Amino acid sequence: MNTGLITVCYIGAAILFILSLGGLSRQETAQRGNLFGTIGMALAILATIMGAGVTSLGLLIPAVLVGAAIGWVLAVRVEMTGMPELVAILHSFVGLAATLVGVASYLDPTAHFASSAEKSIHEVEIFLGVFIGALTFTGSIIAFGKLRGSISGKPLMLPGRHLLNIAGIVASLVLGAMFIGNEMPQGALPELLMMSAIAGLIGIHLVMAIGGADMPVVVSMLNSYSGWAAAATGFMLSNDLLIVTGALVGSSGAILSYIMCRAMNRSFISVILGGFGTGSGTTSTAEAPQGEVVAISAEETAQALADAKEVIMVPGYGMAVAQAQGVISEITRRLRAKGVKVRFAIHPVAGRLPGHMNVLLAEAKVPYDIVLEMDEINEDFPETDVVLVVGANDIVNPSAQDDPGSPIAGMPVLEVWKARTVVVFKRSMATGYAGVDNPLFFKENTRMLFGDAKKSVDAILSHLPA
Ligand code: TAP
Repeated sequence: MNTGLITVCYIGAAILFILSLGGLSRQETAQRGNLFGTIGMALAILATIMGAGVTSLGLLIPAVLVGAAIGWVLAVRVEMTGMPELVAILHSFVGLAATLVGVASYLDPTAHFASSAEKSIHEVEIFLGVFIGALTFTGSIIAFGKLRGSISGKPLMLPGRHLLNIAGIVASLVLGAMFIGNEMPQGALPELLMMSAIAGLIGIHLVMAIGGADMPVVVSMLNSYSGWAAAATGFMLSNDLLIVTGALVGSSGAILSYIMCRAMNRSFISVILGGFGTGSGTTSTAEAPQGEVVAISAEETAQALADAKEVIMVPGYGMAVAQAQGVISEITRRLRAKGVKVRFAIHPVAGRLPGHMNVLLAEAKVPYDIVLEMDEINEDFPETDVVLVVGANDIVNPSAQDDPGSPIAGMPVLEVWKARTVVVFKRSMATGYAGVDNPLFFKENTRMLFGDAKKSVDAILSHLPA
């Protein structure tokens, strides 16, 4: 393929990626966005394979096919609740690729530079790509382990941990100066490898220090890092599409991290510095919530729904685990057919990944126009007869507003307790992801429907007229 055609393909792919991001920002256009992204990536891979830089198709094509097959199987098999883990491990691949390409690019015997300035710029690109890549690689593996539960969600608070990070960064900068100043061809490989080892340790330490409740922000932050690592690789390889794509991923990941921090009322810096979400909720100054817990049966819940004029459903992680969304959709359909106003309230960090609830509800064919964001619906709870909290916990915890010492203090929450009756579906009195006790369960107008959410909604449906 000639250079002109490749450039056209690259521009086409870059435009498709931008259209894809635009499409993914709204539920109604998300499928189209996904399709744009897929076509863009296919075009980019094709143009790269056909480019002049590729000399060994016999090696490349089998590698691409094996990679595509593994990706296909993983994507088909993964549960929605396992998505953050998959995303985290995929980020680690991007980080590893950036590190390896950086080292290979440094060792490339065919590299020629017109001036020493050009050589230094190339070495800065290598340094940045390897540093961000190694940090992303190890940080993402730790995030993967924490999300899977194979590494404890408790933050690891080493004494002097900020100083350790600063020392690591200073050591990397010193090694970077030695690396860039080295005149011998490939003579600074030890410095490069030492720097990547230190960056890897910083990645491990940074993410180990972050508690479970901040993991969603960390995953999106690592997404951003992986984008910048790819962009740096693009500079190393003089590949414009990689630069554009990396910048798109890097900036959209950073914006998403910012939006999520705002939704959890956390400052970005305090998330990165870690220490939140200990998994025990012991930092709270308030006593453990006390009072009477009143249980309700599925039949009574069905009756309350049938008698209601306004109902709001609040889905959370437990709905995803129980796969209750299909039955909830059917309950919604039946209630609406009876003239009950039913809406869904979606918290920005409900579930385990951004948009988690929206995707499940869309799959279950819940109409988009009754699925509302937190800010659109939070004021309507006082006029609501029945709220069903289906497998949600942290996102409806009033202590975020009432207890300044709570680990989730200040996080905006859905004010479900203001409704006439709140029915909470869960299996036990256990805490949610942030490990914080929830006084909602003890409020006078709260009823607990204990059991697996799918079984509970099945039982409710059986008591609602078709
Ligand atoms: P959580 O606070 O984690 O609460 C989920 C509740 O669902 C649990 O208390 C659990 O109680 C219940 N549950 C689990 N399986 C169930 C089942 N089969 N049937 C019925 N109930 C079940 O969830 P949330 O309210 O959606 O809040 C999300 C939390 O996850 C936030 O802390 C957020 O920061 C964090 N997080 C969010 C993301 C994103 S981006 N959305 C990513 C990672 C983490 P039982 O065990 O008693 O049943």
